[in-house]
Amino acid sequence: MRKKIVAANWKMNKTLQEGEALVKSILSGSTNSEDITKIIFPPSLFIPDFVSLVKENASFSVGAQNCYHTEVGAFTGEISASAIASCGAKYVIIGHSERREYFKETPQQLLTKIQLALIHGLTPVFCVGEKLPDRKSNHYFSAVKQQLSDVVFLLPEEMFSKLILAYEPVWAIGTGETATPEQAQEMHAFIRFAIEEKYNKDVAKQISVLYGGSCNAKNAKELFACADVDGGLIGGASLVAEDFLQIVNSF
Ligand code: 13P
Repeated sequence: MRKKIVAANWKMNKTLQEGEALVKSILSGSTNSEDITKIIFPPSLFIPDFVSLVKENASFSVGAQNCYHTEVGAFTGEISASAIASCGAKYVIIGHSERREYFKETPQQLLTKIQLALIHGLTPVFCVGEKLPDRKSNHYFSAVKQQLSDVVFLLPEEMFSKLILAYEPVWAIGTGETATPEQAQEMHAFIRFAIEEKYNKDVAKQISVLYGGSCNAKNAKELFACADVDGGLIGGASLVAEDFLQIVNSF
């Protein structure tokens, strides 16, 4: 059975105090969803505090939104995978489209980040997703396949099988325009098939593939009902406790 996961990518939102209040509301409103892994990705500064807030709730974890692609050294302002792990985080998002676009992260850097994350015991959540022109010109399968081939398909099976993948069509992120369940399902099935081709059926079957891009309390149910959608990576709607909880209850 694949893990069901709902992850909250807060991006650069919330102060520590606002964030603590939000986590507390989520924890107090969370009901009978022990089999669903909930991951909060706050700004990295909040990680130690949030790790202690969620420590009594086994189905909740905390992660970082990024890590640097070098083990250690003179890189002012950056955060290493080992530092993130030492604060009790369990996950790290790698290759979010905002990082690829605004920070010009390259496939080689993303691969190194994943390797460092795995060395330090973090589970990478690796993001792929086509831009609008690729969607419009029907090149979305090849765009996503390329992103997989350029980074995670370079990993040996035992490393690849530790990953979580997230399909986040760039045209759906923060736009209010969501992929339809049909569009999500066809891409998730395509990704799973590509994994089977590259590795094997067992790996393809056990990897969780999350959907992200304007997923909210209203549309989560029909997206999560898709056979190959194992949960969501939620941006805007994860900043409101009731909405996030409703998404968690959408399986
Ligand atoms: P939105 O849910 O705000 O569209 O963001 C999705 C996302 O980028 C999650 O990583």
